[in-house]
Amino acid sequence: MSASASKKIADADGRFATAQLADADYDFLCRLIYERSRIHLGPDKRVLVSSRLGKRLRHHELKTYGEYCELLRSPAGAEEMSFLIDQISTNHTHFFRELKHFDFLQEVVIPKWKADARRTEPCRIWSAASSTGEEAYSIAIHLAEHFAPAETGRWQIEGTDISTRVLEVAQRGVYETDRLASIPPDLLRRHFQRGTNQWAGHFRVKDELRRRVNFQHLNLLEPGYPFTRPFDLIFCRNVMIYFDRPTQETLVRLLAEQLVPGGHLLVGHSESLSSMKHTLKLVRPAVYLKPGQ
Ligand SMILES: C[S@@+](CC[C@H](N)C(=O)[O-])C[C@H]1O[C@@H](n2cnc3c(N)ncnc32)[C@H](O)[C@@H]1O
Repeated sequence: MSASASKKIADADGRFATAQLADADYDFLCRLIYERSRIHLGPDKRVLVSSRLGKRLRHHELKTYGEYCELLRSPAGAEEMSFLIDQISTNHTHFFRELKHFDFLQEVVIPKWKADARRTEPCRIWSAASSTGEEAYSIAIHLAEHFAPAETGRWQIEGTDISTRVLEVAQRGVYETDRLASIPPDLLRRHFQRGTNQWAGHFRVKDELRRRVNFQHLNLLEPGYPFTRPFDLIFCRNVMIYFDRPTQETLVRLLAEQLVPGGHLLVGHSESLSSMKHTLKLVRPAVYLKPGQ
C-alpha cells in the first residue's frame, strides 16, 4: 500500500491490530467530506484523518477503515456523517483571537452604532463558524461593556457551526481556566463565574451574557440560511481556509447577501479575498465593507 497511514485499533478483547487506511478508502472519505462540508483534504492530511477516525472505529468496534467506509455507505451512514465531520473539522479557537478585529469593533463599529440616534433595530452580529463559542462570547463581552444593562435590547448575537459537538460546548459556556488566559482579569471577573467542587478549575460565562448569544447548527455551504433579518457585522474567520477557491467565492457571496449595506465582514487574517470576484470593499486588513449605505 502506498503511503498508507496506519492506526492501532483495540479489538473487543483489548488486543491491538494495526488498521491501515487504504488509498481507495482515503479517496472515498475525502470525496464524502468534500461533498458534505467542502473541506478539502489533500494527500498530506492522510495521517491526520486516520488518527482522528481511530476513535470512530473503536466506537463501532470496527477493525478496518474499509468497514468504516461501508458503514458510511449504509443507511446508518447518515447519522455517522455528523461524527465524521466533527472529527475532521479543526475547531481551534480562543477568546479575543486576532485582537485587531476586536479593536475595530470597539473603535469603529460600536461608536457608530451608539451615535445613530435614529436606529430602533438592534445591532446584529453573526459568529458564522463559532466553534466552541469563544469568538461569540468575546463579541458579547465587548458589547456588554459598551452598552448599559438596560440597553440589552440593542444587540443580538448569533453563533453557528456545522459541528454539533462544538455547539454543545458553546451553549454550556464552561471553559477550563487555561483557556481563559487571553481575557483581561477585570473582564473575567465581570463576565464569568468561577466553578466550585466538581467544577473547580473551570469558569462559566455568566447567565446574563450566555442568554444574549443564540447558538444553532448551520452548514455555511447550504444556502437558505434561517435568518429573517440581515447582520451589521459578520465574523467568518478561520474556516474559509479549508475550502477551495470556488467554494470560498460562493461563501463570500452568500455572506455578503446577509449583510446590511454599510455592514462589515471580518475574515481570518490569513484568509484573503484578493483574487476573488466579490462586491465588498477592503477597509482594513481582513475587514470588508458592504458598500451602499
Ligand atoms: C478553526 S475554527 C474557527 C473558530 C473561530 N471562528 C475562530 O476564528 O477562532 C473553524 C470552525 O469552522 C467550522 N466549520 C467547518 N466547515 C463548516 C461549514 N461548512 N459550515 C459551518 N461551519 C463549518 C468547524 O466546525 C470549526 O468549528
